[in-house]
Amino acid sequence: MSASADHLKALVQAHAAGDEESFYAVTLQVAAKAARQGHNRLASELREMIDAARAEPLSRLGPSPTPMIRPKGELADLVTADYPDVRLSEMTLSKSVREALDQVLHEQRQRAELESHGFEPIHRVLLTGPPGTGKSMSAAVLAHELGLPLFTIRLDGVISRFMGETSTKLRTVFDAAKQSRAVYLFDEFDAIGAERAAKNDVGEARRMLNSFLLFLDESPPESLVVAATNHPNLLDRALFRRFDSVVTYDLPGMKQAGEVVRGRLINMNTTGVEWAEVESHTGELSHAELVKAAESAAKRSILAGHQLITTAALATALDERRAARRD
Ligand SMILES: Nc1ncnc2c1ncn2[C@@H]1O[C@H](COP(=O)(O)OP(=O)(O)O)[C@@H](O)[C@H]1O
Ligand SMILES: [Mg+2]
Repeated sequence: MSASADHLKALVQAHAAGDEESFYAVTLQVAAKAARQGHNRLASELREMIDAARAEPLSRLGPSPTPMIRPKGELADLVTADYPDVRLSEMTLSKSVREALDQVLHEQRQRAELESHGFEPIHRVLLTGPPGTGKSMSAAVLAHELGLPLFTIRLDGVISRFMGETSTKLRTVFDAAKQSRAVYLFDEFDAIGAERAAKNDVGEARRMLNSFLLFLDESPPESLVVAATNHPNLLDRALFRRFDSVVTYDLPGMKQAGEVVRGRLINMNTTGVEWAEVESHTGELSHAELVKAAESAAKRSILAGHQLITTAALATALDERRAARRD
């Protein structure tokens, strides 16, 4: 064993402090000790690992202790950090949305290849579409599929809470963000991207939009910046071309709606269900509402002691959902 107890303690300390130079220095001491003990292979492997880590600056800023991983104090109000566990296969998506997300994943995974030819992978993505169609979920899926943390910046709450100093706060987030490879989700993006904000030259919203645009320009291609909005029509048109990819979400058609319901009932016995009848009750409902209706039908069946979920239970739950949104 080439690493002494003291070495191990020093390594853990350096890691916890996010002090990578100390981490490498201690590792080099371990390598030197290994060499003295005749473990030349281990020694050279350790040195190579450090060289490789130093040569690839962003790899050392992955999911390790950086200031952003657990936002504290005021930043915690602005940003939440997650390691999402939701897979692409759990989403029901139109062909065009699926292809767009696949393309982001593909380019991010092959970014070394692209960069060696002078191209950047897609890393600035705008998701637009009605509420409950899976925009926020898609950001979580992208993070999960790329093995990255997800930082969500909620813009709607931000403006009022820090009135007058929001752009400074955002700047803090952006500065920290540049140091960690991650997915950055700007949810309810219209809060700052609205046309009215862009026209308001002196206002706080204008300053926030400007710092966001700067962030977008400076964001390293290894990180994904995802902006999501339910109101694309409010956005300043000039904003659209700042993104590498604009993905448009829609309410599901009848077949897709049926798939969403089936997807949520995967652990239930649905052998008796007449899906064509269920589908005829799905009109107007978003993916999120369909999931909620499926859950409510399932829970009711379980608590009523039924083994099977019925067509009627599903139809009722779907109709109730539609009625609920009219209130
Ligand atoms: N396309 C989808 N496929 C499967 N489930 C979905 C889909 N879209 C939404 N959902 C369900 O609805 C919930 C809320 O969706 P969300 O991503 O917040 O919608 P949006 O951000 O577009 O308003 C999700 O957590 C998921 O349970
Ligand atoms: Mg959302």
